[in-house]
Amino acid sequence: MNIGFIGAGKVGSAFGHYLKDHAINVVGYASRTIESAVDAAKFTGTGYFNVDELMETCDYIFITTPDDVISNVWNQMKQFNLQDKKIFHMSGSLSSAIFEDIESYGAFGYSLHPLLPITDKYSYRRLDNAIFTIEGKNIASIEGFLSSSKIHFFKILEANKAKYHAAAVFASNYVVALAKISKTLLVECGIPENDTNRAIYSLMEGTICNIKEKGIEQSLTGPIVRGDTGTVKKHIEAFNNNKTACFADIYQELGKVALDIVRERESLNEEKANEILNILGGGMSEKDSCNI
Ligand SMILES: NC(=O)c1ccc[n+]([C@@H]2O[C@H](COP(=O)([O-])OP(=O)(O)OC[C@H]3O[C@@H](n4cnc5c(N)ncnc54)[C@H](OP(=O)(O)O)[C@@H]3O)[C@@H](O)[C@H]2O)c1
Repeated sequence: MNIGFIGAGKVGSAFGHYLKDHAINVVGYASRTIESAVDAAKFTGTGYFNVDELMETCDYIFITTPDDVISNVWNQMKQFNLQDKKIFHMSGSLSSAIFEDIESYGAFGYSLHPLLPITDKYSYRRLDNAIFTIEGKNIASIEGFLSSSKIHFFKILEANKAKYHAAAVFASNYVVALAKISKTLLVECGIPENDTNRAIYSLMEGTICNIKEKGIEQSLTGPIVRGDTGTVKKHIEAFNNNKTACFADIYQELGKVALDIVRERESLNEEKANEILNILGGGMSEKDSCNI
């Protein structure tokens, strides 16, 4: 098995390093610019090539370009002999369908996605604990690769990729968006901006540790769990200027999700739960809640 990457950015470099660490034969990189290919090659102890050389040498090719470029790269690849090659991209939202007609070229296409924010090439250190998803036809033919590279994976259907990626956005990108809301409010309360990172991090770290140790539903604390209606009301009233007014809707919608958790835990009586739902802008009946 000879593995090559087209696209020598964060994911290509980190995943290439991870594979090398697991004794998988990574041959090297081609990229838009020679500088990136050289950097990734040095970082992973592999080589750098042009696309022609890479296609000739490798039978497992990972396209790790931005999503919008994957289909151009695929079209470029069609001029080469693709017989028996396995072509991958690593986008969370796109499926293997982007490799149009791949089977007529004698090859198979897959989307292999790590559920991990990869902020730089050093993120390879966290790939050991990441969960991957794999999607595409004839997954059986790459199971040897998946198991020797120690990838913890689940299979996913093409039809579910957008929903799956939205789940990842909630668990990662929107956590950052929520931290930004929290920072804005803390700064308005007079907390020095430089200290907000530490304040928010300790809150989030505690919550995330609880999720790991107790599970999601048991990690919810705060006024909705306690049934503190007065506090919830005051929170909404506190979003009282141009900058923070838009937080009220987010607070209320997320509050409905929190209330559903409370209902699942059966820790509040129905009258109290409906009172909170009303404050959160829902009606007085269960059907107006989030119903997750
Ligand atoms: N970052 C994440 O958290 C993350 C997580 C999971 C999956 N992914 C997926 O991984 C893929 C890569 O993302 P990334 O974050 O690694 O992006 P990135 O750091 O921006 O790297 C993309 C690389 O693609 C290269 N490239 C652009 N156009 C090209 C072309 N026409 N031909 C060859 N190479 C080209 C660029 O090369 P030059 O440097 O040479 O210009 C760049 O180094 C995407 O599909 C993304 O959805 C990302």
